[in-house]
Amino acid sequence: MTMEDRQLSSPSFEEVAASRLSRRAALKGMFVAAGSAALAGGVSRYALLPGEAFAAAAKAETSAPALSFQELAKSITEDQQVAAGYKAQVVVSWGDALHGGMDAFDPLLLTPAEQERRFGYNNDFIGFMPLPVGSQASDHGLLCVNHEYTNTELMFSGLKGDSAKDLISEDQAKVEMAAHGHTIVEVKKGKDGWAVVADSRYNRRISFLSTVCEATGPAAGHARLKTKADPSGRKIIGTLNNCAGGKTPWGTILTAEENIHQYFAGNPEGTPEARNHKRMGIENKPEYGWGRFFERMDVSKEPNEPNRFGWLVEIDPYDPSSTPKKRTALGRFKHEAGTCVVNPDGRVTVYTGDDERFEYLYRFVTKGKFVPNDRKANMGLLDEGTLSVARFDANGTVSWLPLIHGKGKLTAENGFASQADVVIEARRASELLGATPMDRPEDVETNPVNGRVYVMLTNNTKRKPEQIDAANPRANNAYGHILELTAPGGEGKAANHTADTYQWDILLLAGDPSKPDVGARYHPDVTSNGWLAAPDNCTFDRYGRLWIATDQGGDQAKRGVPDGIYATQVDGAQRALTKFFYAVPRDAEMCGPEFTPDGKTLFVSVQHPGEGSTYDKPSTRFPRFKADMPPLPSVVAITKKDGGEIGG
Ligand code: FEO
Ligand code: CA
Ligand code: CA
Repeated sequence: MTMEDRQLSSPSFEEVAASRLSRRAALKGMFVAAGSAALAGGVSRYALLPGEAFAAAAKAETSAPALSFQELAKSITEDQQVAAGYKAQVVVSWGDALHGGMDAFDPLLLTPAEQERRFGYNNDFIGFMPLPVGSQASDHGLLCVNHEYTNTELMFSGLKGDSAKDLISEDQAKVEMAAHGHTIVEVKKGKDGWAVVADSRYNRRISFLSTVCEATGPAAGHARLKTKADPSGRKIIGTLNNCAGGKTPWGTILTAEENIHQYFAGNPEGTPEARNHKRMGIENKPEYGWGRFFERMDVSKEPNEPNRFGWLVEIDPYDPSSTPKKRTALGRFKHEAGTCVVNPDGRVTVYTGDDERFEYLYRFVTKGKFVPNDRKANMGLLDEGTLSVARFDANGTVSWLPLIHGKGKLTAENGFASQADVVIEARRASELLGATPMDRPEDVETNPVNGRVYVMLTNNTKRKPEQIDAANPRANNAYGHILELTAPGGEGKAANHTADTYQWDILLLAGDPSKPDVGARYHPDVTSNGWLAAPDNCTFDRYGRLWIATDQGGDQAKRGVPDGIYATQVDGAQRALTKFFYAVPRDAEMCGPEFTPDGKTLFVSVQHPGEGSTYDKPSTRFPRFKADMPPLPSVVAITKKDGGEIGG
């Protein structure tokens, strides 16, 4: 660590003093708005705010143990890597059988029907749901895993990159559709580690190809959800682009439908949904070949079909016959996560971000109250409540603006005839209310110890100097940052996540702190291995320490920085001192970090190993490393070799 690094990442007395003065000035209404010529160099004066946060943290105590593992060196290899003293074991991979009597996986023989009985592609969110239901078991449970998307050229032999979508057969398109969605699989920990329970009655695939889902809430049955195949507007085949998600306090899963635009072909111009589809990025430029075979994937023929996707979907993993419910009250956009927290008054808050450049951060608060120990009583909680969107102000306040039909500009004259229109076009409604455009909100999680809310903002290289604001303080933000929101009421369970306003701060500004033009800010002791880029998913351990998964996409190879898991304290003297713990294999990204309740297993998702290469010439053959097997997206269990808790 050079003196220059220290100056960059640790604020001087003058900086802290200046930031406090700025904040005081803001409180007095004297603050100069962002966007002025004073914001030179791409880093705003508000970037001083993290310094203030660090100063405050030095006083905040934590009883969390220090993160004692020896961090990894940054290197990209064909295999996964984990810190010394830990082991990383593959639990389940694309193609693994979920039912008895099935043959070993051969990708060349895969059929749509087979794929629906095997683990799907590109695992993302992981929820560990203990068995028996309601217990805190840490050696037996259900892994509930999203399958976000497919890499056509890595799934099928003989295809290459951009032309793959034009060359696949109808059957191959159906395999892809079947490989999307979600898997529920029973797992047990034995003396040899974690293993799938073959032929468990819980094992289930939920796919885009065939699983019947039900729309509930304000948009259910609305004319804009009706299609030729479904005149009810309630019966939707499949769930799509299931990215991150969440677990409810009553033991169900929320799966987030994210980049749904990339599957739809056909020109939306001239359809009644043209404006809506444009805002969601549906512009006749599909990344997949499905529109060549299926009318519902062509918006010129079935303009309402995309309105049936882009929701948070609730799944009861403990009931294999249950119907997934699309909870439309929580809005339609490119959902990343769905993180639940029970408030002191019993109402439940769900945080969810819209992962696109300049889109928004949302919150839903239920009308009804959570009833402990009665799963059935809570099953409809997410159908009634208030959806709000966040506005971040430079004085450190975040305000939640309710998206309620008839209030403010959300009226018929602006194209919102009912709450159904508000939730279907939540983006446009939020813009009218003056929400703050963010640098791609990915995961949003609440800390079980301090009660604060952490928002991963992955990057936004399109933000121009004149577009920076207090909460998105860097132009050309290539590395992302993490915001920290403090609800009033107190720490942990005392925090009131229903309040109209919270306070916010910046936990860290990501990127290489040794490069002044990056404008990164961490704890001054962060090492050249410990700095991170593109925070995406995250989770907390039971001590409230933050574990961050990164997704740099193609920038990994350019930067020589692998994606993986980084851990940090968020309170105490080591706040924002990120340490590198786990690296994905080449051309993969990291998703889905999830602890067992005892903190002794950390499940992670290795998504798209080998992306950018082909089935016939892959850049890695993780995890099997056999000449006849392509790379396989896989869920990995990380444990400590001495059997202790992860992180030390
Ligand atoms: Fe699918 Fe926003 O990551
Ligand atoms: Ca993500
Ligand atoms: Ca991602």
